[in-house]
Amino acid sequence: MFDIVWIELKNFKSFYGTHEFEFPDTPGLYLLTGKNLVQKRLGANGAGKTSLLDAVYWALYGHTPGGLRAGDIRSWGVTNECYVQLAIDVGNHQFVITRTQTPNSLTLENDAGESQLITQEDLIDKILLEDTAFLHSAMTAQLAEAMFFDLKPTMKLNLFSQIMNLDFWLDRSDHAKHEASKIESLIQNKNEAINYMKGERKVLSKSLDDLEVRGDEFEVNRKQKLKSLKKEVKQSSTSTDWQLHQLEILLASRDDLGVSHRELHKQGEKLSSESAKLHNSKSEVDGEITFLQRRIGYIKESISQLKNLQGKCPVCKQAITVSHKNKEINNLLEKIKDVEITINKKCELVDSLVLKLDKKSVEEKKAKKERDKLLASYQRMQIDVVKVKGDVNSKEQALSELKQRLKEAENEENPYYVLFDKLLIRFEKTEKKLKAQKRSILKITETLEMIKYWVSGFKQIRLFVVEEALHQLELEVNNNLIQLGLTNWRIEFDIERETKSGGVTMGFTVLIHVPENDEPVKWEAWSGGEKQRLRLAGTLGMSNLIMDRLGLHQRVEFYDELSKALSIEGIEDMLDTLHERAELTKRKIWIVDHQAIDYGNFSGVLTVTKDKDGSHLNYAKIDEGE
Ligand SMILES: Nc1ncnc2c1ncn2[C@@H]1O[C@H](COP(=O)(O)OP(=O)(O)OP(=O)(O)O)[C@@H](O)[C@H]1O
Ligand SMILES: [Mg+2]
Repeated sequence: MFDIVWIELKNFKSFYGTHEFEFPDTPGLYLLTGKNLVQKRLGANGAGKTSLLDAVYWALYGHTPGGLRAGDIRSWGVTNECYVQLAIDVGNHQFVITRTQTPNSLTLENDAGESQLITQEDLIDKILLEDTAFLHSAMTAQLAEAMFFDLKPTMKLNLFSQIMNLDFWLDRSDHAKHEASKIESLIQNKNEAINYMKGERKVLSKSLDDLEVRGDEFEVNRKQKLKSLKKEVKQSSTSTDWQLHQLEILLASRDDLGVSHRELHKQGEKLSSESAKLHNSKSEVDGEITFLQRRIGYIKESISQLKNLQGKCPVCKQAITVSHKNKEINNLLEKIKDVEITINKKCELVDSLVLKLDKKSVEEKKAKKERDKLLASYQRMQIDVVKVKGDVNSKEQALSELKQRLKEAENEENPYYVLFDKLLIRFEKTEKKLKAQKRSILKITETLEMIKYWVSGFKQIRLFVVEEALHQLELEVNNNLIQLGLTNWRIEFDIERETKSGGVTMGFTVLIHVPENDEPVKWEAWSGGEKQRLRLAGTLGMSNLIMDRLGLHQRVEFYDELSKALSIEGIEDMLDTLHERAELTKRKIWIVDHQAIDYGNFSGVLTVTKDKDGSHLNYAKIDEGE
């Protein structure tokens, strides 16, 4: 539903001060007329009728149908507030819109009485009707040249497009075009990326080949190196083993010498102890000889004492006789001989001992010499042992170093193969990306084709909707023609296209079929009054079409100065048509006219009277049958 319930205006154009009007709710035909008491010669002109419609329109859209905004609508000479408050029904809701001028503000009050400041866009969202659509459905302004049929073909289509929201399809088509160009440049970028990747893949492939060759060379060199190192290890190992063997021999010999030396030493000790024994024996015998010699001296002393002995024997006290004396001396001499024999024997023993000692001494010297010789050999051998041990050590060291080098050479990473593996990963990644990119291009290209199709597809839809809507409009208009006294007249919309075969619609012209002529007649060929009837038929049709498309049930319509150029019959036909329309559609149809119209079917008359204080509203309800 779309209806205007009441209006309050203050200091709006010719309406000085505050004025209120509650629109009648009963469907029917209403007249809005005027009285100009200020300039009486003007009659109903300049009274403020259009200003009232302007107020309705201004409250909704912020400007008048004639394009007045801001300061132009404030009553001349007035500095205080200027506003229009409008209550409307949209769908199941009632809104009160308040628009003020200086300061400018727009407020919306909902059914619950909550009001809030809103923007023009918010308001359009609520009331659903854009200004142009409003002007071709709810309110026909007093601007003949702006009426639908008067427009140039292109303008007609533009307006039609705008009202029917057909630009939506053009926007979609433009959007599709824009998307298509975005996708095209995306594809171009992707192709560039593919070329770059192809270049990269080529470089990588070449590098991989090079690395493989170099890696293989490295392996060949490694084999050779390993071979020569193994040979060196073998040689070094053999040489070390030989040296170790030499050392063992040396050590064995040295140990043998040690054993021999110890044996010689023992032998030397044995010889020394034997010499010592011989020395002891000799000393003993020498002592015995000395003792015996001393005994001989004692005996000799005894002899001499005996020789000198006279008188009695001191021992036996017998007188000493010469014979006894001689006997005793001879006994002693005999004893001396015995002792001397013993001494001689002892001396012989000493000689034999000395001989033995000499022999021993020679043996000892010989043994010592031999021992010294052996010791010297031992020491020399020890020096050799130390030297060979050193050699063995350095050989072992060299061998272990060689083995280490061999191990290292065996385990050394092939740097070319390492790099090869890394590059291979990159190569495979590039390859994968390349494939993905190609797949993506294929997919995007499909999308592009689809979108490209829709660039014209949406235009086709628009054309289809245009044709369908025009067809509906044709029916609507033709229905009204009969009522307007143009019996057997028929209008037809001729669509101008870019090409003969179809394509983009450029605009449309109105052709009128009349019984008197076989050929359709152009709009421009008709007289002022005829045109006005046709205009009204067009306007009524258009209004129905718009409201039908928006799904709004129209409850109120205003037609400003429709009687212009119409004959009395014309005016009657117009009034009948509108009256019938009001009854059929249960609408309140307001016609604004400066002429005093004598018509019996008005449901009410609102008179705008302008006096020295400005315009005033006076409503008179007309009861049925009056
Ligand atoms: N800002 C304003 N302040 C005061 N008066 C204004 C203002 N703007 C226009 N007017 C006057 O208001 C009067 C009413 O004009 P309006 O267009 O409403 O008349 P109308 O009744 O529709 O006349 P017509 O039958 O000629 O169409 C005119 O005389 C006009 O000059
Ligand atoms: Mg007017």
